Amino acid sequence: MRLLSSVIIGTVLLFSLVLYGCVDINSSMTESLPDRVTYVDHIKPIFDRQCIRCHGVDEMIKDLDLRSYSSIHSSDDFLPGDANSFALLKLKPADVSIRSMYIYLNDVRQYDLIYQWIVVDSLAEE
Ligand code: HEC
Repeated sequence: MRLLSSVIIGTVLLFSLVLYGCVDINSSMTESLPDRVTYVDHIKPIFDRQCIRCHGVDEMIKDLDLRSYSSIHSSDDFLPGDANSFALLKLKPADVSIRSMYIYLNDVRQYDLIYQWIVVDSLAEE
């Protein structure tokens, strides 16, 4: 009986260690979001690398210029505090289609950053 309970306790302990290990690995892989997302620190690097070739440099598709804070701020696609901003609808991970801009993001964390920037931090510049 004692042997059996030690085996059970041992198994449970081992299992929790394995689980804890996985959780730990996951949390280090999905870096948490910053307290405050700003254009200068977080958004500009994404847009410069992944968006402006079509929205500002080689082309100006849909007249959307993502090269500067002022042009983004004055665009109807980005409304401070609005979770239904058109840019968010175009970038939404769940709505990947041929017209979606999600394919130009590296991962869902970039979407989360943009979401927080528009909705929570109201297009903070810096
Ligand atoms: C390879 C070219 C290309 C890249 C790179 C690109 N886009 Fe686009 N974008 C388009 C095209 C084409 C449309 C029009 C699609 C449509 O309306 O169906 C568009 C439309 C949009 C719109 C809607 C504009 C409007 O008012 O109709 C937004 C917002 C947008 N893109 C944001 C982004 C963001 C943010 C990125 C970077 C993550 C990005 N795009 C990268 C080609 C691109």
